Amino acid sequence: MADLKKFIIDRILLAESDTLPPDSEKVLQELRREKTDKPVIYISFGTAAIIAGCEKTWSAAQTYFNDNGLKAEMVKVGCYGPLNFEPMACIQIPGKNRLFFRNITEEKVEPLLNGVFHNDIDETDLAGQIGNRGFEMWQGIPFVDELPFFANQKRLVLGNCGCYDPENINEYIARNGFRAFVKTISNYTFEEVCSIVEKSGLRGRSGGGYSTGLKWKQALNTGSTSRYMICNARESDPGAFSDRTLIENDPYRLIEGMAIASYAIGAPKAIIFLRKDSEYALQRLQTAIKSAREYGLLGSDIFSSGYSLDIEIRTEPGAFVCGEETALISTLEGKRGMPQLKPPYPATSGLFGKPTVINNVETLMNVPMIMQNGPEWFRATGTEKSPGTKVFGVGGKGRICGVIEVEMGTSLKTVLEDVADGIKEGKEFKAIVLGGTSGSFITSEKLDIAIDYEIMSENGIGMGAGGFIILDENTCMVDLVRYYMEFMRNESCGKCIPCREGTGRMLEILESIIKKPSDEDTGTTLERFKGVMQLENIASVMKDTSLCGLGQTAPNPFLSALKDFREEFEEHIFDRKCRANVCRGLRTFIIDFEKCTGCTACASRCPVNAIYGTRLQPFFIVEEKCTGCGICYEVCKFNAITVK
Ligand SMILES: Cc1cc2nc3c(=O)[nH]c(=O)nc-3n(C[C@H](O)[C@H](O)[C@H](O)COP(=O)(O)O)c2cc1C
Repeated sequence: MADLKKFIIDRILLAESDTLPPDSEKVLQELRREKTDKPVIYISFGTAAIIAGCEKTWSAAQTYFNDNGLKAEMVKVGCYGPLNFEPMACIQIPGKNRLFFRNITEEKVEPLLNGVFHNDIDETDLAGQIGNRGFEMWQGIPFVDELPFFANQKRLVLGNCGCYDPENINEYIARNGFRAFVKTISNYTFEEVCSIVEKSGLRGRSGGGYSTGLKWKQALNTGSTSRYMICNARESDPGAFSDRTLIENDPYRLIEGMAIASYAIGAPKAIIFLRKDSEYALQRLQTAIKSAREYGLLGSDIFSSGYSLDIEIRTEPGAFVCGEETALISTLEGKRGMPQLKPPYPATSGLFGKPTVINNVETLMNVPMIMQNGPEWFRATGTEKSPGTKVFGVGGKGRICGVIEVEMGTSLKTVLEDVADGIKEGKEFKAIVLGGTSGSFITSEKLDIAIDYEIMSENGIGMGAGGFIILDENTCMVDLVRYYMEFMRNESCGKCIPCREGTGRMLEILESIIKKPSDEDTGTTLERFKGVMQLENIASVMKDTSLCGLGQTAPNPFLSALKDFREEFEEHIFDRKCRANVCRGLRTFIIDFEKCTGCTACASRCPVNAIYGTRLQPFFIVEEKCTGCGICYEVCKFNAITVK
């Protein structure tokens, strides 16, 4: 097409009621690859895929097509969701459904493509087929959306992920992109947009669940002449990766959501606050913003609506606390990233004292769908008080990990057992951590609880921003709580005493119970017990008196673990025993004389020379020198080393 850009812009501007002439529909179908006359290979490109080797997969596919003189189209797409399927590749031969393959590393490319092109498909790495309108089905091959991982999801926010090239604005627009924005600025006033979003029941997806439309209204109603819109894409909780994946997969949807939100509050300037190390997400956002400007979707007097908007990306090295909204604002103002007392809330007095709306990535990515389909459409999904869906980054010990999206009201059990396919390696389930370092543990008794802000809160569970970490029997709850507290201690900005001193003291006490000092006298033992007695007290003071959410929620994992795993704490404190054998300081390794062959593997690898013996005779471990690192246990090929 001579002027694809003009055609694409006309397409966005086309009113809902207008129908496209047949030749225009053909262009869109080509952009969506619903009509192809040559094979297409889609390879997922994102942080996880790159780590898994997708760049080599791409080169191997290029070489294959060149060497075989085949004309094929190669497309870099976002991730489809299951991260341990990376590198993923979909192959579409003209007229037929896409075939979806998992773990296609470079050496698998040639046999895979040979198989597909010669109708001799090796199904080892085949996940299934993806149906496209009017395409021929592959007989005997299941549809991907029938697999439990996909069948139990409701992919609205993730709807575009893995389907298009996230660096190509034309492809986004061909999938109805930016129509909601243009519809919004052409048809609605600021107040109307706020009301539509309020009516939809959309709630902030960063965890708090505050009404998004209401927050926008508060900023709009301030009467100020200038306002700011900020997308909080900081996401620095250990184990959280869903926001970054959303940005990498569908950056245009975020830009569109931000553009609508900015319009709703009459903000001419919007900022995306990103982690400095989210390089891939940054690159995709930069491309998206640049092309949106070129298409007139950002800039001054957008499509003659009188509305002007620009979006800037700010990457800050910052700390975890900089994700807290007032600390975030301080950072953007060039001050130290420390939180401020609220009220005033940012919606009334935020960046440079101006009304500022701060929203999470997932919250904003829901907005174009609401404006396009209406608030009732959104309310039809999910529960009465928590409409819509929730995206989670599932990690840990599940068989499948990745970014998933379920309808609100779905049980946690469904996510664990059907979407993540249970626990890997046949281990026992222990708990789910929702909300990461400030979250709580969900044990098997609570798995039937529905994902819903109210229901979860009634059960003492916070929704969190999207971290869903699965733990198995090999997790030591005391050590995990200690690890989370260490993170919080390191991340506490130090501005308020309860958080600064509380996290430090709690960590000190937790550390004292995961090791067994050989020279502990009665006095130190008493000190240790005294500390343990103080833990709950410190936790409650921190919750009640800390300045911001970091200090207020830092004791959550401890309190939650104490409630459900009290006996593990008692074993550590009284019996000096770690049932998961994780706490190094409590482990004693013993060599079984009957089984030891004297191969020397353990002695040669011991970092503190605590293992002695004569070659081909049984060895022994000097307990006083042993640090409990467990290397001997790992290297012994004869199962001669046991943990006491
Ligand atoms: C210590 C701390 C870190 C936070 N980090 C983030 C973050 O990385 N991303 C985020 O969206 N919200 C984060 N929040 C919540 C924000 O303060 C704010 O409530 C949120 O961005 C509002 O978005 P929402 O209304 O769309 O949920 C954090 C809060 C605290 C206390």
